Amino acid sequence: MSLSIMNLEKSYSDISGKNLRVLGPIDLSVQNGEFVCLLGPTGCGKTTLLRVISGLEQADCGEISSEKGRLGYVFQQGALFPWMNIESNIKFPLKAAGMAADLCRSKAEEILDLVGLYEFRKSFPHELSGGMQQRTALARGLVTGPDLLLLDEPFASLDTRTGINLQEMLRNLCRRLSTTVIFVTHNIEEAVYLSDRIVVMGHRPGRIVRDESLSLEWPRNRLSSTFTEVLLSFRHTFEELVDPSISS
Ligand SMILES: Nc1ncnc2c1ncn2[C@@H]1O[C@H](COP(=O)(O)OP(=O)(O)OP(=O)(O)O)[C@@H](O)[C@H]1O
Ligand SMILES: [Mg+2]
Repeated sequence: MSLSIMNLEKSYSDISGKNLRVLGPIDLSVQNGEFVCLLGPTGCGKTTLLRVISGLEQADCGEISSEKGRLGYVFQQGALFPWMNIESNIKFPLKAAGMAADLCRSKAEEILDLVGLYEFRKSFPHELSGGMQQRTALARGLVTGPDLLLLDEPFASLDTRTGINLQEMLRNLCRRLSTTVIFVTHNIEEAVYLSDRIVVMGHRPGRIVRDESLSLEWPRNRLSSTFTEVLLSFRHTFEELVDPSISS
């Protein structure tokens, strides 16, 4: 599902009631099937942008146009329902869409298997590790077979190995299903490993400072010189954002 954002702006009022622009103007077009990483320092408005794209939040001005399709959203804070077991959490968006119980169960089982949580399907979120909870949130975002998948730092709290495994799983799955993805992260290596394209956001107010398609082939080798080159280049952009006194 393609998406086009034009001239988008968003403000919040601060504690003194003053209007503070946190986002924009933002112009961004995402192609059908493209995997885009939104990379930016904390507080630059990444979550706000996802919330506006999803319709959870209203922009002050600007336009978002997209084709019709299913949306998946993996929130920054897992947002699992604590009173539901893992399977019920994953089935929730299917039930909400009115899917028949049998089909809900088979789709949930398929995805549970894929994220390696089948044997924990009757456990409750508090009985699982952070990584398993994150995998549940990912499964819930994927179970509807979304045309557009929004992910907000889904692997930030995981150890490196688990994070890498899930990155690979997500990437393979999205390629197979041609899902359009907007993946928020402040982990530069993760962005270079996953994306077709990296969009870097700067802050105050959040805006796009670099937008580049990557020519790295898939599967990617984190140890290759081309990978390292791209990584260093984005690291430099990122460091400049945090500390503008750094120059090439
Ligand atoms: N509901 C709100 N009311 C007021 N200010 C808000 C609200 N939500 C976000 N903000 C402010 O908007 C700015 C952007 O927040 P946002 O959560 O989008 O950043 P982020 O890039 O996702 O950060 P992080 O990487 O830490 O998750 C921040 O300065 C934040 O304080
Ligand atoms: Mg955020």
